[in-house]
Amino acid sequence: MLSGEFSSINIEDIYIKRDDRIRKEVTPESIDSMAESITRCGGLIHPIILDREHTLVAGETRLSACKQLGWDRISFQYLDTLSEREQLLIELEENVRRKDLDWKDKCDALLKFHNMQVESEDVWTVSDTAKAVGYSVSATSEQLSVARAVVAGNSLVMAAPKLSTAKAIVSRQNEREASDMANAISTTAGPKKSNEILTVDFNLWAPSYSGTPFNFVHADLPYGINFQSTSQGAVAEHGEYNDSEDVYWKLLGTLLDNTDRLFAESSHLIFWFSLNFYQQTLDKLKTKFKVDPYPLIWFKSDNTGILPDFNRGPRRVYETAFFCSRGDRKIIQAVGNAVAAPGGDKVVGHASEKNEAMLGHFFRMIVDSNTRMLDPTCGSGSAVRVAKRMGAQSVLGLERDEKFAEDARRALG
Ligand SMILES: C[S@@+](CC[C@H](N)C(=O)[O-])C[C@H]1O[C@@H](n2cnc3c(N)ncnc32)[C@H](O)[C@@H]1O
Repeated sequence: MLSGEFSSINIEDIYIKRDDRIRKEVTPESIDSMAESITRCGGLIHPIILDREHTLVAGETRLSACKQLGWDRISFQYLDTLSEREQLLIELEENVRRKDLDWKDKCDALLKFHNMQVESEDVWTVSDTAKAVGYSVSATSEQLSVARAVVAGNSLVMAAPKLSTAKAIVSRQNEREASDMANAISTTAGPKKSNEILTVDFNLWAPSYSGTPFNFVHADLPYGINFQSTSQGAVAEHGEYNDSEDVYWKLLGTLLDNTDRLFAESSHLIFWFSLNFYQQTLDKLKTKFKVDPYPLIWFKSDNTGILPDFNRGPRRVYETAFFCSRGDRKIIQAVGNAVAAPGGDKVVGHASEKNEAMLGHFFRMIVDSNTRMLDPTCGSGSAVRVAKRMGAQSVLGLERDEKFAEDARRALG
């Protein structure tokens, strides 16, 4: 409520300056909602503000609503009778609706307006702010959340091109935080050591795991295509591993048999697979996860890849992964489902080492400071390194081969 004296003026005598640069967003909806609020409150709580020439300074929505209600006169105050604080409040309130300000400035004005009112009034709620600026309570509450994220330096929100994108990011982050909190409450064991690579057999380890479930599993099992007998596999500089089909199905079976033990109720899985087994793999994963049927694609920009039959077919220069979720877990941000990165650009030199830049691209959907990641067959540990670098809360890689595991540990640091 403003201090000082109110006067009343004939609505016809008010002059409205039409300056397109600072035109306000006075929409039919905001006028209707203001008219309804005025009727409900039995009158105008905040007078409009005029300068000494009776030009409208603030309160265009209120004025339009009073006109719509058929009023002849309206209460007002002169701008120069208001305190500095009141003038600032009015400026902020007007900025919220200015068309020439970008969404971040408008959110910032709304938050400053709201905070000033909360500090000075006995009881001031989001719905009071909503009433004052003529927005719905939910729109006001969403914009305040966005503004707080901007003030907190949330780079993803700050980079959003428009308010609707920023709102979607904040809402997804809130949902992820809520589900992570629920996950944490429902599990008794706290996160173990945060960055680890163990030399173990996943098939033996999984059934006896009793720690905190993971909210992100990156699975790059042996593809089951007898990779070692292909031209690319044969030139592997750094050891071999059994890549027979039965090894693949056994490891996938272990992952699915232990889903409830390994995966948090709200979690993601990135699952690399050979297109030889597209349908069977999809059908199996769908028994436990929501699976996007459009796989993620890594195009190897240096044209490396397996050439199964140089007389009859092309070199396979891309790899595919299913993107899966449990409990409708939201992503952090959307990225393209295909990315180009060289296949030969290896950090450790494992035969099947995934490119770190490529992993980083897809992990932008998933990894944040609440991420607890498991890679059950981590090889060189590429995914573990990338998730750690992206600030994951904890990363755990498993690798059966002692030499691979040692190299991965060294590279993880
Ligand atoms: C496709 S590679 C993983 C490559 C890895 N994503 C990388 O970027 O370096 C599969 C790995 O699984 C390991 N492996 C095979 N069977 C395993 C098992 N039962 N438990 C743990 N690791 C296993 C192999 O030794 C191999 O290093």
